[in-house]
Amino acid sequence: MKVSSEEEVQGLYEESANAYSEMMDREIDLPVYADVLGRLARGISELQGPLVDTSCGSGHMLSRYRERYDSERPLVGIDLSPRMVAIARARLSSRTEVLLGDMRNLEDIKASSAAAVLSYFALHHVTPEDALEAFREWRRVLRPGGQLVLATWEGEGTIDYGAESDVVAQRYTKDEVVRWVHDAGFSVSRCVIEPVEGLPMDAIYLEGRKRVQ
Ligand SMILES: C[S@@+](CC[C@H](N)C(=O)[O-])C[C@H]1O[C@@H](n2cnc3c(N)ncnc32)[C@H](O)[C@@H]1O
Repeated sequence: MKVSSEEEVQGLYEESANAYSEMMDREIDLPVYADVLGRLARGISELQGPLVDTSCGSGHMLSRYRERYDSERPLVGIDLSPRMVAIARARLSSRTEVLLGDMRNLEDIKASSAAAVLSYFALHHVTPEDALEAFREWRRVLRPGGQLVLATWEGEGTIDYGAESDVVAQRYTKDEVVRWVHDAGFSVSRCVIEPVEGLPMDAIYLEGRKRVQ
């Protein structure tokens, strides 16, 4: 299964970062974000450690989490695009690290240290093999019982970016995603497929916890 290289993916987000951030200024008020961030805050209220967003983009989810749900928890954002990192750093000032990096290798984060890992709409940029590698890496950094919160594009085949880009990205089925999450050592507590307004694809929203084996 083919996806574009990191350089090509980075190029897409370097070009679109400002427009993406402006879009998220509006989208972050959608109920879907309040639902997921509220559940996340409740789910990790007894766990110490940072919330790590492994593809934080413009930083809107971390910022909203801090403003509305938990002003104390340390936050870490990671993203492949330097422009996205700059935008997220400007949005998230104190007690937040925003790092340029790859979600498949969280080398700056200690094992069993994080309360939660967030991955929203970036898994489509990696192959199935790399998706499994990423889930294993996220499990490594999570505390026992730590929470995984994921959204990705549902279905089969590639994503059509139209005239915007030649980047090749993949949709994955709910069964595939659940299998990878399970094989990487998580239990799944919630997994739903929901439409996304204005887009021809549905999204998978998954929540799980690091299994203690
Ligand atoms: C569609 S945006 C989503 C941003 C954010 N998670 C949100 O939901 O608003 C995808 C983001 O994933 C980042 N990304 C893509 N591949 C990545 C990788 N291998 N590691 C880290 N970030 C990656 C892109 O740079 C971009 O900022």
